[in-house]
Amino acid sequence: MRFLFLLLLPLVALAQDDDYCFSQDTSRPQTRQFSSKTAYQIVKGSDIERQYLVPNCEPKKMWIFHRHGTRLPKKSMINKASRLAELRDLIVKNYKVLKTKPDKDPLCQTDLIALQMWKWNSSITGDMEEYLTAQGYDDLRGTAKLYQRYYPNVLPKEYNDTYYQFRHTDTQRTTESFKAFAEGLFGTVNSAHPVDIPKQDLLLRPYDYCQSYKDLNYKGEGSEFEKYHQSTVWKNNLVDISTRLGFQYTLEEEDIKLMYDICRYEQAWQVDRNSVWCGAFLPEQVTVFEYAEDLKYYYGSGYGFEEIERLNCRLVQDLLTHLSNPVSPHVVAHFGHSTGLLTLITALGIKKDGVKLRADNYLDLASRRWKSSLIDPFASNFVAVKYDCPQELDREKVVFFLNQDAVQLDWCNVGLCKWSDVLAKYKTISDADCGEYFCRSGATSSLASGVSMLATSLVALLVYLMH
Ligand SMILES: *[C@@H]1O[C@H](CO)[C@@H](O)[C@H](O)[C@H]1NC(C)=O
Ligand SMILES: *[C@@H]1O[C@H](CO)[C@@H](O)[C@H](O)[C@H]1NC(C)=O
Repeated sequence: MRFLFLLLLPLVALAQDDDYCFSQDTSRPQTRQFSSKTAYQIVKGSDIERQYLVPNCEPKKMWIFHRHGTRLPKKSMINKASRLAELRDLIVKNYKVLKTKPDKDPLCQTDLIALQMWKWNSSITGDMEEYLTAQGYDDLRGTAKLYQRYYPNVLPKEYNDTYYQFRHTDTQRTTESFKAFAEGLFGTVNSAHPVDIPKQDLLLRPYDYCQSYKDLNYKGEGSEFEKYHQSTVWKNNLVDISTRLGFQYTLEEEDIKLMYDICRYEQAWQVDRNSVWCGAFLPEQVTVFEYAEDLKYYYGSGYGFEEIERLNCRLVQDLLTHLSNPVSPHVVAHFGHSTGLLTLITALGIKKDGVKLRADNYLDLASRRWKSSLIDPFASNFVAVKYDCPQELDREKVVFFLNQDAVQLDWCNVGLCKWSDVLAKYKTISDADCGEYFCRSGATSSLASGVSMLATSLVALLVYLMH
């Protein structure tokens, strides 16, 4: 008997070790796969130390597009806090009362106990929807400090509005993100201010003013996103997750999505802690979700439709104009949103795959370039640094950084691009009349009326001046 016990002991230990434990996993690969809800600190580049220095060249100017930092969810999700508490109780009941814990891949004991103790942070209420969080503020203050450390001459600690030009969209989270960034550069007490936000923000939100863009079918019937949702990969994933949580039926997709979302948010709100809800998913299950998100963004804000490459005509012109011109502003920084960042990356031909993402090539594209988690986490940022290289024939050079990692383009030399090549590459856009080019259907009616109102007032002004 005793002998048998000793014989079985290692087996028991082995079985316990085998249960995946999110709270004890030191690599936590799934936290790098949360698409646009990924924490910046987890996926940001770690090589800038080697990439920023260009021998015999001096950094001169900088152009930045920065997504806001980690935010709170929409009201619709905040209102589902009580459903999360119900799901928590159901899972615990499955394991402890109904004894429907699965034989294969159950939740480990630590993850289950952590889940049992989970509570919604009751100070997060519906009126704070999409607000920047404390971590979100730190994200932007952090990137500002980091870039200033590597480029102290381009980003001096003294602010003036000739040298620096800041602009953000009309939301709490981008306003606060701008303030955080300014605090990182100039300290807590500073006089940094943004330029006025126009009524029609065609520079930072062109996608709001283009009907043919809004009409693109990126996730509706017949879309690749929808097809993926009908696939066996997707359906089995929902079954596996439900079984793992002890359910003897398949949970509603809405419930699974809710648990997945709270996991992603909580992980981003407190990067150094584990979100209890992330324990509900195995890494490979998160990978299945990630591809759905990537499909959604590929067709909604990426290379899926050709017209998306045109949307940011004005923003690309803004980049080219400012960096071509030797005079101030020397630093231009825009604070916007996920769609803005992704469509900008797309306009520039960055992170483009040779093959289109589809529902059925999920496995072939496991190492695709288009990974929204790495391109567009919270606080994602695109930074172009212009260099002057007096010893070279082509004096003007540029390095593009995405999330503080030098962008590799095949027409550049390990991240270092000739400015003349940049101008040639984006000539179509720089020559375009953006008013016509940016949107196939032309601007939406609200814009058209805005323009005609502007025209009317200009005429009025002229008439007034002539008298
Ligand atoms: C709860 O949320 C508020 C508002 O976002 C935040 O200030 C606070 O730190 C959070 N508390 C905990 C324990 O996470
Ligand atoms: C603004 O700041 C820049 C960089 O520190 C400096 O070179 C320039 O002289 C300043 N301009 C004004 C008007 O203060």
